[in-house]
Formats: sequence, C-alpha cells, structure tokens
Amino acid sequence: MNSISPNLVALARSGLVRLTDVTKVYQGGITGALDGVSITVEKGEFTAIMGPSGSGKSTMLNLVAGLDRPTSGTIVVGGTDLSKLGEAGLARFRRDHIGFVFQFFYLLPNLTALENVLIPAQLKGNMATGRGRELLEQLGIPDVADKYPARLSGGQQQRVAIARALINNPTLLLADEPTGALDTHSGEQVMELLGGLHRGGQTILLVTHDAKLATRNAARVISVMDGKIVDDARLESPERAPSEVIRVRSEETPPAGARRAPETK
Ligand SMILES: Nc1ncnc2c1ncn2[C@@H]1O[C@H](COP(=O)(O)OP(=O)(O)OP(=O)(O)O)[C@@H](O)[C@H]1O
Ligand SMILES: [Mg+2]
Repeated sequence: MNSISPNLVALARSGLVRLTDVTKVYQGGITGALDGVSITVEKGEFTAIMGPSGSGKSTMLNLVAGLDRPTSGTIVVGGTDLSKLGEAGLARFRRDHIGFVFQFFYLLPNLTALENVLIPAQLKGNMATGRGRELLEQLGIPDVADKYPARLSGGQQQRVAIARALINNPTLLLADEPTGALDTHSGEQVMELLGGLHRGGQTILLVTHDAKLATRNAARVISVMDGKIVDDARLESPERAPSEVIRVRSEETPPAGARRAPETK
C-alpha cells in the first residue's frame, strides 16, 4: 500500500518548532522581551531572524533551546512540549536535540579543537572521535584537530564550534549571530557552510544582523521588532525580491539613506 494517510501528512506539516503566543517578561522588565509570538518552523527550513538590538531575537532562540522558560505560551520542538520538562529533562532535551552556535564561539581554551568538538558526544557516553574528525574535514579545517583554540583564527574557531554543535546530529541547529565576531570573508564562509548544511537537510534557526548574508543563504526571514513578529517572508516566493523582504534592519547595517527602523503601526 503506498497511499499516505492524511493524518500523517498533517503531522509532517505541523512544524518541527511551534511557538504559540509566547511571551517573555524578564524579572524587573516592564514590557515583554517577547510579546505574543507565534511561529512554526518546518523540518529542513533555514530561517533567519532579524531585527534591531533588543528586539528579542536571542530571547526567542534561548527559549527554543530550552535554556530559559517563557512567562506564558507554549513551545513545542519535535513533538516535545518544553513546559512539560523539568530541569533534568530540559538538559537532556538540549543534549539530544539542540546544537547551539554563539557569536563568541565559547571553546574551552585548555582542550584541543577535536576535544572541544567531542564534548557533547562524551556527555552522552560516546567517544565519536571518527565523527569529530569527519566533521572538521567537512567544515574545511581537518588540520586544526590537535591545535588549541588560541592558535586558531576566529573563522576556524567558529567552524570548530559548528562541528561541536553538530556532533550529536541535532534536530535543530540554532545560531545566534555566528558571523558577528568575524571578518567579512570568514563570515561569508561560515554562512555558506550553514547553507551547505541546510542543503544536506539540517533545520537551522539563525539570528543575524547581516541582511546580505541572510538573504543569500536562508530561505525565510522573520523580522522582529519590540518583541513582536512584524514580517515573515519566504525568499523563494517569486513575488518578493530579497531586497524587499527585510522590513526591520539592524542598527549595525542600516539601509543607505533610510531611517533606522520603519513605522510598523
Ligand atoms: N537576562 C535578562 N534579564 C533582563 N532583561 C533581559 C535579559 N535578557 C534580555 N533582556 C532584555 O530583553 C530584551 C530583548 O533582549 P534580547 O537579548 O533578546 O535582544 P536581541 O534582539 O537579541 O538584541 P541584540 O541584537 O542586541 O543581541 C531587551 O530589552 C533586553 O534588555
Ligand atoms: Mg541577541
């Protein structure tokens, strides 16, 4: 029998990541860092989140990663409602499902590149040395395996951090401004690597200030402002050119001759 049940199709399309009316108010905060955000990310999508500083981008990524909890609303990743997990459950969820890449790499200085890559695997009781070396090769830096982070360039360190994020085959790769601390060329290389991972099937949620790199590599751009989603554009959609889809630009890269942020009301 080769007919697929409509229920299965609906399940497959119900989203790998689902945020429903998610609000986050930090202690001491008057307004929400996130204010009633609902989005769905499908398996295999490469989505960029853009918006001005303080608009809630990192907050959103941290909530999806299970690093923090929303004040209200629900977050479901891969069928798991994160609010149902205790602290140990959330730690297991992160270990088994999330790869996280940060702006400043956060490699441990007293471990070699390969040892850094292997940390998440060892937390699961796997040695994974072969896979670690394979990933370094795939990311174009096989020769750095036995070097310490201080001997590596920023671009090499970020690629080591990406290998570390991928070592446990995460359901979801999250990256918070992974090119923010890199020179233009290294930033382009890292973003192209993310594009390649996406073409290989990896689901990626990326925060970036770089409109050019985002539109060149991601297939969807979500614009956030004051904790709210103000635009959600799929770049393959023929009626919208990439240059038109970014409504909210970061302060670091204002469009030439434009005001800092458009009116949204
Ligand atoms: N731990 C925290 N405690 C209190 N307030 C916080 C905390 N983290 C973030 N905020 C506040 O929440 C809002 C959203 O912050 P967030 O870090 O998500 O912004 P962002 O879009 O990632 O900004 P940037 O582009 O500068 O990284 C900001 O007003 C920020 O000051
Ligand atoms: Mg941030």
